[in-house]
Amino acid sequence: MSSVEIRLLDQERDENLAHDLVQLQIDCITSDGALLRFHPPFDDGKRQQMQLFWEDRFRQCRQGLRVSFLAVEMTDSNKENFCGVVELGLPVADTGPFRADVEMLMVSPHHRRKGIAKKLLSALESYAEEKERTLLQLSTDAGSTAATHVYPAMGYIKFGTVPDYGIKPDTAELVAGEYFYKDLRKSKGSTRA
Ligand SMILES: CC(C)(COP(=O)(O)OP(=O)(O)OC[C@H]1O[C@@H](n2cnc3c(N)ncnc32)[C@H](O)[C@@H]1OP(=O)(O)O)[C@@H](O)C(=O)NCCC(=O)NCCS
Repeated sequence: MSSVEIRLLDQERDENLAHDLVQLQIDCITSDGALLRFHPPFDDGKRQQMQLFWEDRFRQCRQGLRVSFLAVEMTDSNKENFCGVVELGLPVADTGPFRADVEMLMVSPHHRRKGIAKKLLSALESYAEEKERTLLQLSTDAGSTAATHVYPAMGYIKFGTVPDYGIKPDTAELVAGEYFYKDLRKSKGSTRA
């Protein structure tokens, strides 16, 4: 038996995390055709570029501009098996200190449909509420599982579609982007996992 827990990124403890995140990102791009910044081929040069992408985000975590939530499966021998991530971007804005961005939600294709995305988003929302970042925003590719099922199930409201937003990694077709928001002050207790 194993269980999945959500915890915050710990930069000392998670020293190999950038490598694991690159692999998770590649798995999601390959299996879902998701718009997750990078396209194949995932050769050494591309993997290095992706590693730098994550290291830059870890730097933003140290600066207090971002928080990362990790889903880890606890195995019978009490080892952690990394299986998902979501980030909360915390932009500096006097005009909207209560706003934040939901980014890079990914769950390993080996761990889907077990409620992990909902658990990750619930943990992110509890943290955001505690920090008074109550207006959450995000964008995702139209027609994806996230846009069709996950965000609506969690009470996110679609407020717009941008045509020809991004290039699909598998077909090179242009796909629309969909924009969502959730005001935590107005949706208390309604949809948490
Ligand atoms: C989107 C993603 C994160 C969902 O992860 P997950 O852990 O499988 O999702 P959950 O098990 O928490 O499911 C959440 C809800 O969506 C529904 N759902 C999830 N996958 C579904 C699917 N393939 N078909 C229909 N419904 C689905 C679940 O039933 C659940 O709703 P419910 O509680 O009302 O039944 C995962 O598919 C993924 O990593 N995709 C690739 C990356 C991506 O597109 N990320 C979004 C970038 S913004």
